[in-house]
Amino acid sequence: MLSAASAEVVRVTLPVVRDHAVQITSEFYPAMFAAHPELLDLFNQGNQASGRQRVALASAVVAFAEHLLAPDAGSFDAIAERIAHKHVSLGIRAEQYPVVGRHLMAAVGKVLGDAVTPEVAAAWDEVYWLLACRLIAAEARLYQRGGIDSATVWRRWRVAKRQDEAVDAVSFTLVPDDGGEVPDFAPGQYVSVAVDLPDGHRQPRQYSLSQGPGCGSLRISVRRVRGVDGAPDGAVSNHLHDHVRTDDTLLVGPPAGENALDPGTGPVLLVSAGIGITPMAAMLDHIARSQPTRRVVVVHADRSPERHPLRAEIRRIAAGLTDVDQFTWYEEGDGGRRGLVDVDAIPLTEDTTAYLCGPVPFMHRVRAGLLRRGLPADRVHYEVFGPGMLDGRVG
Ligand SMILES: Cc1cc2nc3c(=O)[nH]c(=O)nc-3n(C[C@H](O)[C@H](O)[C@H](O)COP(=O)(O)OP(=O)(O)OC[C@H]3O[C@@H](n4cnc5c(N)ncnc54)[C@H](O)[C@@H]3O)c2cc1C
Ligand code: HEM
Repeated sequence: MLSAASAEVVRVTLPVVRDHAVQITSEFYPAMFAAHPELLDLFNQGNQASGRQRVALASAVVAFAEHLLAPDAGSFDAIAERIAHKHVSLGIRAEQYPVVGRHLMAAVGKVLGDAVTPEVAAAWDEVYWLLACRLIAAEARLYQRGGIDSATVWRRWRVAKRQDEAVDAVSFTLVPDDGGEVPDFAPGQYVSVAVDLPDGHRQPRQYSLSQGPGCGSLRISVRRVRGVDGAPDGAVSNHLHDHVRTDDTLLVGPPAGENALDPGTGPVLLVSAGIGITPMAAMLDHIARSQPTRRVVVVHADRSPERHPLRAEIRRIAAGLTDVDQFTWYEEGDGGRRGLVDVDAIPLTEDTTAYLCGPVPFMHRVRAGLLRRGLPADRVHYEVFGPGMLDGRVG
């Protein structure tokens, strides 16, 4: 809880902070990287270029301040969970929080100028540290639960198999190269993978595990991201496609992610588009091996059958389930329904739990359709393949 004095200051200054939040975080990142160049290799520079990480950080801090002022207006849990899982996948440590706090508060001062009196600075510092403590605690719990030492999260894994899955999509099956064990994980979770790029920088990206747990390996499936309208090609996906072969090694962080399959027995709806199929493949694989009689509806949308990753595998796994329906939509080509997913055509029962993954506009549309058809929002889970979430907030 904020102290009473700080609460009043935060209440009065929140509108101006909210209006300038992205300006503040835009000031914050370059200054922090200038003082700590080693952090350039920890932060996704694609998200820096697109500005998505700036927006995500700004929205998280503003949402938390709003939550402190009106705790009954809504929970902050989902946001904290999302950030904590992302941090754990990257090995963020408690001792790094003062660095972020110092540069964030300096950016507040720089953007808001004289408006930042010592009282205002102290009140927002309190907000920062309440949020930091909450995240540090959540991350400590995740590290402990996973038996992970936050100082050594990155481990070397060997590519045991590389397999083309579709046009511009390739899978890498990874086994530990350090004699350690394959960690357990929940279907739907992801890992961070870090590669050393030709420019000398190391860059991490997250990749959902595309096979269920218990296989003695981890598998990721990666879509090659091509630059459009003069933008550069995706750094890490292209590096993985062009340079990583069988027997090469990769640095991989621990499995993390809050959008994991509900271990219950109720009906499950898996809706994906494009490379968003990866967490669905893990969930389906897991259900087929551990609950083959569970009701599952599998929906996938893609540009064409040739671009549909893991298509044959999903069909094979689905054939092992006793109560499954599969629907496919292609914008072009045969072998499925034509056009975009028609949410009204998806069989739905009121106890269904839905998992969505794909481009943000696609998930917006499908989620809205499912809510309209009566599914409660807390049973429509979704994974954004980037920072932030569907309603503009984070978490
Ligand atoms: C939880 C999670 C799970 C994910 N799971 C998967 C998965 O299973 N499979 C998968 O393939 N992906 C997955 N992703 C996405 C993945 O992490 C990467 O974002 C993706 O591979 C692109 O990374 P990249 O390095 O190739 O592209 P980046 O280099 O990060 O570029 C991303 C975009 O930004 C543009 N860009 C980059 N730099 C600039 C610049 N200077 N100016 C203008 N534009 C620029 C690029 O053109 C490109 O469009 C997941 C993401 C998350 C968060
Ligand atoms: C209170 C403090 C902090 C807040 C509010 C915060 C918030 C966030 C948010 C909102 C995201 C995006 C989550 C998503 O993917 O949706 C994120 C990602 C990230 N955070 Fe933090 N964070 C904090 C502290 C830190 C610290 C101390 C570090 C370590 C230097 C750090 C490093 C990162 C990195 C590397 C990412 C991934 C960035 C990317 O992929 O672009 N964060 N954080």
